[in-house]
Amino acid sequence: MPLTLPVRPRRLRRGPTLRKMLRETVLTPEDFIYPLFVRPGQGLRRPIAALAGQDHLSPDEAARTAAEVYALGVPAVILFGLPEVKDPVGASGADPEGPVQSAIRAIKAAVPEMVVITDVCLCEYTDHGHCGLLREGRVDNDATLPHLAAQALSHARAGADLVAPSDMMDGRVGAIRDLLDQEGFQETAIMAYSVKYASAFYGPFREAAGSAPAFGDRRSYQMDPARRREAQLEIDLDLAEGADIVMIKPAGPCLDILRETRDRLDIPLAAYQVSGEYAMLMAAAQAGLLDGQAAALETLTAIKRAGADLIITYLAPQAARWLRP
Ligand code: PBG
Repeated sequence: MPLTLPVRPRRLRRGPTLRKMLRETVLTPEDFIYPLFVRPGQGLRRPIAALAGQDHLSPDEAARTAAEVYALGVPAVILFGLPEVKDPVGASGADPEGPVQSAIRAIKAAVPEMVVITDVCLCEYTDHGHCGLLREGRVDNDATLPHLAAQALSHARAGADLVAPSDMMDGRVGAIRDLLDQEGFQETAIMAYSVKYASAFYGPFREAAGSAPAFGDRRSYQMDPARRREAQLEIDLDLAEGADIVMIKPAGPCLDILRETRDRLDIPLAAYQVSGEYAMLMAAAQAGLLDGQAAALETLTAIKRAGADLIITYLAPQAARWLRP
């Protein structure tokens, strides 16, 4: 005997068209920001062992890849640099002829409409691999700020649309905003890595970017994953200092933080699906343990459902292809 159930959610799951009509969360390639690792040189495209499917690129090749992903509907890239020289203060990060600065110009020349974002941090440019200057073996917050601001300014001068500080020093958004404004870059926006947990999921990136700390770890500046409420404090501080877009990372392990932020604030919200999240998916799919495409799209859908407007992901070109009608 069939039951008389007034409400049967399964009624609306009967066919694919009906299911599609009722979907609230719809991924599009426009949600994605694609990370690129840029090295000095020309015509260089070298696979990154730690990140299957991603390459180290010289600025001209970065422009080629940018044009390709733009044609797939991905509107933005975020650039990371591997410099020729490193020193204790990361000075090469502000070199107008550095790989990131050259790549910004090359991408803007090839695809003027593409939004170019740059990661601003010292860890790729310091010989000790920490995100700030050292004093007596510790990262000196305030001494670091002018160096971050100088790097951000060099990116703005090269034509970056947004700069994205990832170092987690206190006060760095304000320091960057002040210098950009002083130098006439009122229109250059800031996407702050506001909530950045000290995560094991950055492992493959540090190999890709050559930015692992030479000693210790980043736990005196990146956040403790066991603290939830501090995330909202970090976001409020960055907004007060002038952040235009707030970012949360890693994405998958922080869906709760994304949801809480989205419920509390009407601000543009980004999430970074980091290297370790990508590597896990790739490895599991490679081993035949799961359907890589379905699993990847499920993670991206979950990140958007949790509240992200923008998703930084190494899957961007692949996912854009999968989403093609
Ligand atoms: C630089 C930076 C890192 C990531 C983004 N910017 C590494 C770190 O903080 O150690 C991680 C990105 C990823 O894992 O994909 N500070």
